Amino acid sequence: MNLAERDKQVVWHPFTQQKDMPKPVAIAKAKGSLLFDEKGNSYIDAISSWWVNLHGHSHPYIAEKIYQQALELEHVIFAGFTHEPAVRLAERLLPLLPGNFSKIFYSDNGSTSTEVALKMAIQYWWNRDAGDGTRDAGYEIRDTGYGMRDAGLPAGRQDAGYVRKKILAFKNSYHGDTFGAMSVSDRSVFTLAFHELLFEVIFIDTPTAENIEESKAIIQQHKNEIAAFIYEPLLQGAGGMKMYDAILLNDLLRTVKSTGALCIADEVMTGFDRTGKFFASDHVTEKPDIICLSKGLTGGTMALGVTACTDKVYNEYVNDDKLKTFFHGHSFTANPIACSAALASLDLLEKQECHQQIKWISEQNKNFAGELGSFDHIKNIRCLGTILAFEIIGGKDEYLNNISVTITQKAMEKGVYIRPLGNTVYIMPPYCITAEELSKVYNVISEILRELMS
Ligand SMILES: Cc1ncc(COP(=O)(O)O)c(C=O)c1O
Repeated sequence: MNLAERDKQVVWHPFTQQKDMPKPVAIAKAKGSLLFDEKGNSYIDAISSWWVNLHGHSHPYIAEKIYQQALELEHVIFAGFTHEPAVRLAERLLPLLPGNFSKIFYSDNGSTSTEVALKMAIQYWWNRDAGDGTRDAGYEIRDTGYGMRDAGLPAGRQDAGYVRKKILAFKNSYHGDTFGAMSVSDRSVFTLAFHELLFEVIFIDTPTAENIEESKAIIQQHKNEIAAFIYEPLLQGAGGMKMYDAILLNDLLRTVKSTGALCIADEVMTGFDRTGKFFASDHVTEKPDIICLSKGLTGGTMALGVTACTDKVYNEYVNDDKLKTFFHGHSFTANPIACSAALASLDLLEKQECHQQIKWISEQNKNFAGELGSFDHIKNIRCLGTILAFEIIGGKDEYLNNISVTITQKAMEKGVYIRPLGNTVYIMPPYCITAEELSKVYNVISEILRELMS
């Protein structure tokens, strides 16, 4: 049995209908921008393996740091212990973050980083406003009938003064697949089976000159209920690489802040120079209170999540009252090997050649966007930093259509890996991509567009 056949016996793949699933391509190794399959065919990874890879695959510098760390300390419980890689990474990240951040909370991936942010923001208000008298009364676990259980403050006292529990989010958003992250993501095929179990969220449109006043009115209407606003700054990734205006986002953030609500920037995808600045929040003056990072954090080599917050948030948790503790953590919180990979990635991001590559990719993308203008069956050609995206006209604007599969297959046959989101074709290459590789990606996309037209 070859690897794909063995895989079919024992593995269940993400976001994939298993019935009649095309055989997965067995990747034997990867180097730089290239993925190599078992037969030695190569594919340019033009989407950085789900947007995680920054410096190229199997980077020797990151690999060496991972190896050295694994020999020294591979993992240790992070409650009651600490270690150099976690502290060093926090020390290095904090000054780079967009705003006055003071603490780093570690988790495992993008979804957990947003889940942590939501819990952190909601408990911020509970710690602040539920009233010490209420909390002094302790908590109890109650049978509430028909097999239901509830843990909370004594009946009738839980809500005293604690009214801010709602989350404000954008329509078309995606913040991950765990339940909290799903709740604040727009309702879609991803969340359909779970709708009744998701908590209620106030959704507003991503801002345009036409709709922003209506969104501001919605915010005002709920101004005493909103605990936090979670947003993907400037670019909604999984929602179809939809880009929106920095000035309008800034305006909206100002309105949210005027209500006292916390702002949570989900930079899981946009962080680490993807949008042409180190963080997408660097394009706006209104800074978040909480920021979520993952994906490129380790250069795409290890799973790691970061949720950073300001003193304003953190200080609400520092108290003699034990109930104000943030009761959250994961077995692999602050894994030393992952933190070392992140430190190595930061070293590479500081290099002049990396800055030059980012600038160069952004310029090349703009030139190619100009060329794409000659195709009349595509629309909304757009660029932001190292990301280029457009839509195929006539393809259905959703996940369950075949145009995405067709394009992926055609591109793979030509040695390029892209994975359109529905009818949205996009590229987001690793920063190490060579001139030859990038022009091959452009040529393959143009060829496929011509084939689709004919
Ligand atoms: C903006 C954003 N937030 C959160 C996530 C979830 O990250 P993960 O897949 O690591 O759980 C993603 C993943 O694509 C994302 O794009």
